[in-house]
Amino acid sequence: MASPSPFITLFLLLLGAFAQARDPFACDPKDATTSSLPFCRVSMPIPTRVKDLLGRLTLQEKVRLLVNNAIAVPRLGIKGYEWWSEALHGVSNVGPGTKFGGAFPGATSFPQVITTAASFNATLWEAIGRVVSDEARAMYNGGAAGLTYWSPNVNIFRDPRWGRGQETPGEDPVVAGTYAASYVKGLQGSNGEQLKVAACCKHFTAYDLDNWNGVDRFHFNAKVSKQDIEDTFDVPFKMCVQDGNVASVMCSYNQVNGIPTCADPNLLKKTVRGTLSQIVIRLGCFIIPNITHQHLKKRRQMPLKQASLDLDCGPFLAQYTENAVTRGLLNEADVNGALANTLTVQMRLGMFDGEPSAQPFGNLGPKDVCTPAHQQLALEAARQGVVLLKNHNPSLPLSHLRHRTVAVIGPNSNATVTMIGNYAGKNSNNNYVSLLVNGCKMGCLINNFVLVRTLGVACGYTSPLQGIGNYATTIHQMGCADVACADDKLFSAAINAARQADATVLVMGLDQSIEAEFKDRTGLLLPGRQQELVSKVALASKGPTILVLMSGGPIDVSFAQNDPRIGSILWAGYPGQAGGAAIADVLYGTTNPEGKLPMTWYPQGYVSNLPMTDMAMRSSPNRNYPGRTYRFYKGPVVYPFGHGLSYTNFVHTIASAPTVVSVPLDGHRHSENTTISGKAIKVNHAKCNKLTVGLQVDVKNTGSKDGTHTMLVFSTPPAGHWAPHKQLVAFAKVHVPAGSQERVGINIHVCKFLSVVDRSGVRRIPIGVHDLHIGDVKHSLSLQAATLGVIKN
Ligand SMILES: *[C@@H]1O[C@H](CO)[C@@H](O)[C@H](O)[C@H]1NC(C)=O
Ligand SMILES: *[C@@H]1O[C@H](CO)[C@@H](O)[C@H](O)[C@H]1NC(C)=O
Ligand SMILES: *[C@@H]1O[C@H](CO)[C@@H](O)[C@H](O)[C@H]1NC(C)=O
Ligand SMILES: *[C@@H]1O[C@H](CO)[C@@H](O)[C@H](O)[C@H]1NC(C)=O
Repeated sequence: MASPSPFITLFLLLLGAFAQARDPFACDPKDATTSSLPFCRVSMPIPTRVKDLLGRLTLQEKVRLLVNNAIAVPRLGIKGYEWWSEALHGVSNVGPGTKFGGAFPGATSFPQVITTAASFNATLWEAIGRVVSDEARAMYNGGAAGLTYWSPNVNIFRDPRWGRGQETPGEDPVVAGTYAASYVKGLQGSNGEQLKVAACCKHFTAYDLDNWNGVDRFHFNAKVSKQDIEDTFDVPFKMCVQDGNVASVMCSYNQVNGIPTCADPNLLKKTVRGTLSQIVIRLGCFIIPNITHQHLKKRRQMPLKQASLDLDCGPFLAQYTENAVTRGLLNEADVNGALANTLTVQMRLGMFDGEPSAQPFGNLGPKDVCTPAHQQLALEAARQGVVLLKNHNPSLPLSHLRHRTVAVIGPNSNATVTMIGNYAGKNSNNNYVSLLVNGCKMGCLINNFVLVRTLGVACGYTSPLQGIGNYATTIHQMGCADVACADDKLFSAAINAARQADATVLVMGLDQSIEAEFKDRTGLLLPGRQQELVSKVALASKGPTILVLMSGGPIDVSFAQNDPRIGSILWAGYPGQAGGAAIADVLYGTTNPEGKLPMTWYPQGYVSNLPMTDMAMRSSPNRNYPGRTYRFYKGPVVYPFGHGLSYTNFVHTIASAPTVVSVPLDGHRHSENTTISGKAIKVNHAKCNKLTVGLQVDVKNTGSKDGTHTMLVFSTPPAGHWAPHKQLVAFAKVHVPAGSQERVGINIHVCKFLSVVDRSGVRRIPIGVHDLHIGDVKHSLSLQAATLGVIKN
């Protein structure tokens, strides 16, 4: 090989510049004046350091630290900081705090959250968080990212049309809360006060509409009952705070019952900081949208005081706070309160501890991003998240001996960027690329090299076509030009491919042009003429026809469910950078599918008369309202919540379970009238601490393939108008080799999971028979109140 051209040398030099370690954010040991100040002393407790720093800042400086692009305070040796970075399912450049390029051309892009949720594997969720925060720290050390991530999104996927449903862990509050706590633990690490990165559970609360029928999220007033708030919308946030110890919570764009959530002192101060948890929310990563400004202006209020916001993702607080203090609308103490929270987070992150390289995680760098192990976990996550919806005959798995030629058809058949869903990265918005490309006007090597390296922000992709290509010879046809599938111009070529091949795989579904932030769907069917293509290809295909769906939200595929020519249906969600490999592994049986749907798949008719704006969870026969999610909706479905097949069969038997459990009352509650109403004990009056129901369940694999079983335990509470039909109370996964049996232990926390919420929003434990369902097995559990009057202090 010849020696490198000058252009390559230039390129490598630039690479080197980008890989350079970041200077300390504050307390730079090279600056003797500032690094000796008390707030820099690592040996002192954080509250003392925060107090010292606050005492040194002027009001003018303080107000400009209340916003996401916080200013530098050079006289104290503090640099500017961009609080906004995103890591929904991998470090992303959606927030301005993160830039790809140079030594960090991409990051591991895990499946979109709805797919990861389908794995029902909390260990996996935490493991993904750990990898993402390794990569985030590595990028921070290299000057390419922040340490504060506005992830995860744990709103309930209430309406199947929501464009951001894909970002969430689905429709069940317990799954969403478990996901929130697990992912946050993985991101933040669990070393006491120290934070690896700071996570943020968003958007508090009752946010699940972007733009539907002329109503947008900034103007939407979500009318929500106290019961639904407590029972559904706030559950993931509570679990995120209490179990995940999250560093921050973001309020939502919408109003709840007429008050913008970011300006509602009851919601934020009382619920988030007060009742939700004993711990203090150390950072409020609170966006203050326009509607909030107007609301506050009318009332001459400042959100810092009124709602205890700490940080504004926008300029408002920097612009108006000083004036508000001057005019007496706000005390400087309120400003200090907010700043104390945000500065505490920065100190917990080590940002005031001097040289980043000398700190924990200081050794992480470019070599720790997109490692083979990280990319393997992205593949593993996709494998665990794929859901087998239908397997007639059975048509799957394919055999690499009999199905040597496969027609791979459909607008998502060679998908790459589509597989990573949203909050992944924008390819065009890359200053580094334009810098290099513009500096290289000769169409030289560098140009090609850069373009190849910046195709996306994932480390690389395996499309379905490539994945299947590892098992068989493929004949590729798009069938439709894109997911909109406006015409049938490409149909006949696709039909011809299916006629020739031993098997046909159609990869159809949606992408961000159909469902996205700012874009809710109008219906639940496949877009354009996709359905027609699938049916025509299925009719013509020589071998088995398999339908693979990519989408965040559910799709009404009743036509395919009922078509005997379509042997199998797989849902892959948006399966991330390795999605195509995972799909192929499932198709060919190297992976036995284990995913379960984290949301109900409704028929199209469900939404035809259902305004997205109606927030009520419970059905109401009087007004012909069907109710929402499997907990309250009893009508026809295409596929239910929790549906997902395997290539083997699992049989459950309950090995041991109590039939009666008594609920002890709190010591000083000994009078029946204060504890029991409608035969349900207030959770606040019960001794909840270690009150669990322990079950032992045997899971037998009666088929001929090894497999992993995802066990969902539902409870039907005693009948009553408060209760859902059934609710998920526990889930567990177990690997069972063919022909053998494994025992699974499950503990159900009585107060958290067997309780229901009354109409006033009070959580209560219904006394009486709760039916537990595990697959076809039912177990009746009788809850009784511990003898009253006996327990006294
Ligand atoms: C859950 O995911 C982790 C991480 O991928 C994996 O090691 C584990 O085997 C999974 N659990 C089960 C029961 O499959
Ligand atoms: C925000 O509200 C003001 C009125 O207070 C209005 O003039 C302005 O256009 C709004 N901006 C946006 C982006 O909606
Ligand atoms: C599939 O996509 C890859 C990456 O975008 C591209 O290089 C390749 O040409 C595509 N293959 C076909 C057959 O279109
Ligand atoms: C409960 O009952 C006791 C005894 O009957 C009575 O003294 C007390 O006032 C009642 N408390 C409430 C809150 O009704």
